[in-house]
Amino acid sequence: MVSTSLWMDTEILPEAGELKGEAHCDVAVVGSGIAGLSTAYELCKRGRSVIVIDRKGIASGMTARTSAHLAPLCDDLMSEFRKLRGADAAKLFYESQAAAVDRIEAIQASGKIACDFRRLDGYLFQGNSMPADIIDQELEAVQEAGAPVHRLVGVPLRGCESRHVLRYPRQATFHPLKYLAGIAAVCETNGVRFFANSPVEDVVERDGAVTLRTAHGQITAGHAVIATNASIADRFQLHTKVAPYRTYVLAFAIARGELPDALYWDTEDPYHYVRLQTGPDDQDFVLVGGEDHKSGEANDAEERFARLESWARELIPALGKVTHSWSGQVLDTIDYAGFIGREPGGEKVYLAMGDSGQGLTHGVMGAMLNTALILGEDHPWKSVYAPDRKPLAAARNFLRENLIILQNLAEYVAPGEIASLEELKAGEGAILRHGLEKIAAYKDKAGELHLHAASCTHIGCHLHWNSFESCWDCPCHGSIFAPNGQPINAPAVSALRPVKV
Ligand SMILES: Cc1cc2nc3c(=O)[nH]c(=O)nc-3n(C[C@H](O)[C@H](O)[C@H](O)COP(=O)(O)OP(=O)(O)OC[C@H]3O[C@@H](n4cnc5c(N)ncnc54)[C@H](O)[C@@H]3O)c2cc1C
Ligand code: FES
Repeated sequence: MVSTSLWMDTEILPEAGELKGEAHCDVAVVGSGIAGLSTAYELCKRGRSVIVIDRKGIASGMTARTSAHLAPLCDDLMSEFRKLRGADAAKLFYESQAAAVDRIEAIQASGKIACDFRRLDGYLFQGNSMPADIIDQELEAVQEAGAPVHRLVGVPLRGCESRHVLRYPRQATFHPLKYLAGIAAVCETNGVRFFANSPVEDVVERDGAVTLRTAHGQITAGHAVIATNASIADRFQLHTKVAPYRTYVLAFAIARGELPDALYWDTEDPYHYVRLQTGPDDQDFVLVGGEDHKSGEANDAEERFARLESWARELIPALGKVTHSWSGQVLDTIDYAGFIGREPGGEKVYLAMGDSGQGLTHGVMGAMLNTALILGEDHPWKSVYAPDRKPLAAARNFLRENLIILQNLAEYVAPGEIASLEELKAGEGAILRHGLEKIAAYKDKAGELHLHAASCTHIGCHLHWNSFESCWDCPCHGSIFAPNGQPINAPAVSALRPVKV
């Protein structure tokens, strides 16, 4: 199985080059996923000069791996959100996420962006053998937040005819990269400059300006927005309130009309979801996802895909063959809302991180919020997402998510997974103990070895091999490294240290 999403064949600004030399702008945006590009869009429309800079190609991060539900209700359940944050914050959370869906709708309509955007119903249905009272509690919390909702029985999935269900009108979906290609084009027309393949190594705020340094260049800006999914600006503080989870998606072919066009997800934990995407001729794709686990804590993608496939075929007998399979990472915050706004302790640096399975709507509402704050305006959503908030009610979640770090550091004294490099098969990675050191060893298809310290360059957690994606995952705060040691997901900025055996 090879990891390829349904969206990845849409390239965005492939001609964007590397940053070389000095550049200046009002606002520098680091990261070109939905959070970064939406921020650039809002700021250039308000007359600011903007530079977008990315470590890799434009929009080739987690946004290229999404499943593209545009669902404004908390995907950890509104009842859970209300329990931790209170009814007022829950209402503001819903309003901000719904405003993001409205904003996408308005932008694609005004820019005539052909991105398959459509409004549709969403169905939250009772999971297999799960109690119905979850649905009742959720109904009450959703009504209190002011969202339209209807309680009913049954969804058009086999065996779910008598399940308890909430129907949410005016959810939406789209093709995420066609949408971003459209807004990138509008940004270019409005003077936004794009640099790709330019990892930002350093963000320094001094004398009322921000300097961003790359290997061959430097940007000086009045403000910076760090939209790197996990922030590269904050070294530790915020990362302890965010936990990375790997999540899996399968796309199946299906004849048009076999499944009513809607978003479906169940109340299990982790939950399963189903949605449709328009395909060529009279064939569509059904996306089915779930099987999440804490990043780096499992290396069994084949079994997870097999479970997802059998779950989906049981519920939707008309499914055709599997056309795509992929995984990605989401960042769950301990109190269910992202961290968006001014960086704690900074003046000119703004963040957008921690988005759970709602990173698309977080990215778009975060762009609206950060733009307002940068322009000196107050905003009603500020307190819900404030990066310096103290989520005391979420202490239990904080402890649970951070226990993993202590367990992880203990792994440095454990034996390696292989006793010698000869055990390593071509195309595989594993941990080798070499004296006191743990080594992340990878043998490429040509038999060449790539050996690095198994210590994440963020703050030193022990890495784990991911066979399906062929990368090293860090279970602590979400960094991911390629077999050659280069970081491919923040917060890590530096490459793994090469070692010799
Ligand atoms: C399988 C899956 C399904 C999902 N389903 C949904 C869904 O249905 N609905 C929903 O709302 N959300 C969903 N999400 C979440 C959502 O897709 C993501 O949270 C969102 O796309 C993240 O966008 P982003 O812009 O923050 O990050 P990214 O798209 O990852 O962009 C960050 C960018 O920063 C760049 N970067 C990192 N470090 C540096 C550096 N040092 N210098 C320069 N650039 C750097 C990266 O290269 C990357 O391009 C899903 C996620 C996954 C993985
Ligand atoms: S991501 Fe923080 S230690 Fe690896």
